[in-house]
Amino acid sequence: ILEDDHMHAHHQGQVTGTSGNPVSVTELKGPQTGIPDKKYVLSAETKTLRLASGEAIEAWTFNGQIPGPALEADEGDLVEVRLVNKNIASGVTLHWHGVDVPNGEDGVAGMTQDAVMPGESYTYRFVVNETGTHWYHSHQQSSIQVQKGLFGSFVIRPSNQQDSETMDATVMAHHWVTPGGREIAALGLADTFQRQKVKPGTPVRLRLVNAGNLTQTFTLNGVSYKVAAVDGYELNEPGTLTDSLLRIGGGGRYDVIFTMPKTPVTLTMISEPDPIGIVYSQDGQGEPDILQKGTVLDITAYGSPADTPFNPSTDFDRSFTVILDQTYFGTYNGEAGQQWVINGKAFPETPTLMVREGDIVKTTFVNRSFADHPMHLHGHHIQVLSRNGEPISGSPLVLDTLNIEPGESFEVAFLANNPGLWMDHCHNLDHAQKGMTMHVAYE
Ligand code: C2O
Ligand code: CU
Repeated sequence: ILEDDHMHAHHQGQVTGTSGNPVSVTELKGPQTGIPDKKYVLSAETKTLRLASGEAIEAWTFNGQIPGPALEADEGDLVEVRLVNKNIASGVTLHWHGVDVPNGEDGVAGMTQDAVMPGESYTYRFVVNETGTHWYHSHQQSSIQVQKGLFGSFVIRPSNQQDSETMDATVMAHHWVTPGGREIAALGLADTFQRQKVKPGTPVRLRLVNAGNLTQTFTLNGVSYKVAAVDGYELNEPGTLTDSLLRIGGGGRYDVIFTMPKTPVTLTMISEPDPIGIVYSQDGQGEPDILQKGTVLDITAYGSPADTPFNPSTDFDRSFTVILDQTYFGTYNGEAGQQWVINGKAFPETPTLMVREGDIVKTTFVNRSFADHPMHLHGHHIQVLSRNGEPISGSPLVLDTLNIEPGESFEVAFLANNPGLWMDHCHNLDHAQKGMTMHVAYE
């Protein structure tokens, strides 16, 4: 019962459709001609950086900074990014997390391209349609490279957005792990957010990105606020919150909006003793409130329902069940110990979900392990249908990274509209590296 007819075991590097023809992904590229609307160069290089804690770290960076440069584009833009590898010996790539690019631009080393080695460069070109808060990171040995700093934010603004009044800042939560295994918060706060005092009455949008492996709990103090978007997707009629805890799984994003009051607003992350950010008002200081309180926001019951393309009674073309679990045995990728498994298997023995272009695909995720698993599907967005058997009661949720807590189950749906060979993996990148990775392939 765990495996649908269209789940196939396969071995790395040998993907064939049911017809037996190899799937050619390298031809599925973005527009190769045309003048780009936005052009960036990202250079991967080692750099000694100093954390806020004072600690000097040997980081891997894009353009010498963590996070890398903040990329921005407008909806519909043709974006061109040249990746240059200066000296990262294991090679690098760029993956556009949350942006549904053509398969050949997806940046998965060993799958959609080869890693870009020192001295080499590679150019990505694609049109962006997924508005909102996204991010980019290397997808070569991701569990090591993202940890060491090869990531940055990628914000795509809607074409109808006029309002330039809004103070807009991105916060990337990340932890640096020392060679001794100690974790230090390494937070990328936009400089404006650190220094600028904001005029009371100004609309503020904080874009929270969890660029780490573990689920992080955030809250805002000193103001009432709304969660406007999750994974870049704007929620329908979000309600006002005062003390909710926002649990964001690895790879996930929440956009939080509020109107600047006369007193400071603090952003806290429960794992950290001090606020990770303070927005000061021009009208004087006041005391920042750093109380950690409240209950976890149930995102499946937040905001108001609206029409969606799919619902639990849609006639699905394919259905899959994906059981997330752990095992304690064996050696995997040269290391003994824990493996994270999908339907009892570790990658590359995990099943491949075979779809046809145009299929409406339902996937049921069940978490039988003791850890959170933020499952990230490349190249597509998934609509959440139900949690623990209950249809969601709040705003539609359209995600690229679905955090599944222990004991939870979710039904989700996606439209197979982006041919190629895609990753679907846990964005606790240590889990992905230790087995919790599978593929979605087009027949
Ligand atoms: Cu954000 Cu496969 O990754
Ligand atoms: Cu996981």
